Amino acid sequence: MSAIIEARGITKRFGGVVAVDAVDLAVEKGQILGLIGPNGSGKSTMVNLVTGEMMADEGSLSFNGADIARMALHRRARAGMARSFQMLRLFQSLSVEENLVLANHMRMKTSVVDSFFGRADSRAEDARARVKARELLAWFDLQEFADRPVTAMSIGQQRMVEIARGLMSEPTLLVLDEPAAGLSPPNVDKLIALIRRLRDEFGISILLVEHVMRVVRDLCDRVVVLDSGKKIAEGAPDVVVKDPVVVEAYIGSGWKRRAQA
Ligand SMILES: Nc1ncnc2c1ncn2[C@@H]1O[C@H](COP(=O)(O)OP(=O)(O)OP(=O)(O)O)[C@@H](O)[C@H]1O
Ligand SMILES: [Mg+2]
Repeated sequence: MSAIIEARGITKRFGGVVAVDAVDLAVEKGQILGLIGPNGSGKSTMVNLVTGEMMADEGSLSFNGADIARMALHRRARAGMARSFQMLRLFQSLSVEENLVLANHMRMKTSVVDSFFGRADSRAEDARARVKARELLAWFDLQEFADRPVTAMSIGQQRMVEIARGLMSEPTLLVLDEPAAGLSPPNVDKLIALIRRLRDEFGISILLVEHVMRVVRDLCDRVVVLDSGKKIAEGAPDVVVKDPVVVEAYIGSGWKRRAQA
């Protein structure tokens, strides 16, 4: 098996806080790696280091075997990474379809050049993006919302749109930061089925940060656990969640809010 993402000794400091502390982590091709840990343990920071929102202070990072430690965010996106955010980042006043089309244009970064050298090309690109957006929305069973503003949707539906937006670039690696947060149990079921199909039907590798343990247990091939920036456990989901070191880390953090999930 080969890794699509491999981090070695990756470290990120914010002033005196070591948010991610010499962590080794690998997402194998076609697999779902779960990243869990108490609040503030460094999960979102790790995600930001992988996608290029932030640069690591130390350590190595490779994507499909190539060194990407210093590679800029948009180049990583073009190389095949997409993500969703813990806090939704959709344009609320735009329609659902426009949100998807805009994501496509931001990725292409060709709009200025295209409109200068050949408007027809950019119009064709726009038409292609709209078709792709509609197809994706149909795949998510959200086609009825295409022309409606994002605000017409529930939070659960907006989370699906965030994922759909990431898929516009046809990524090989999808990074999801707490996709189940705030979802009702039936919507959690839908999300689980959907993420599984992304892996099984499209072969997309997934790095999944999630607090909802049912999602972690149902989906993840392997799990890495962080606590205060350090990796404290790694292995199969069923084994890891019972590991006394992991249980202790959650209890020690005053874990209450999401423990029942
Ligand atoms: N941009 C930043 N500037 C300063 N400190 C930060 C920044 N981002 C994160 N931190 C700190 O780094 C640590 C790890 O935060 P991070 O957001 O990665 O945790 P998390 O595991 O995603 O938590 P949660 O479960 O609450 O989402 C925390 O102590 C946090 O306060
Ligand atoms: Mg987080």
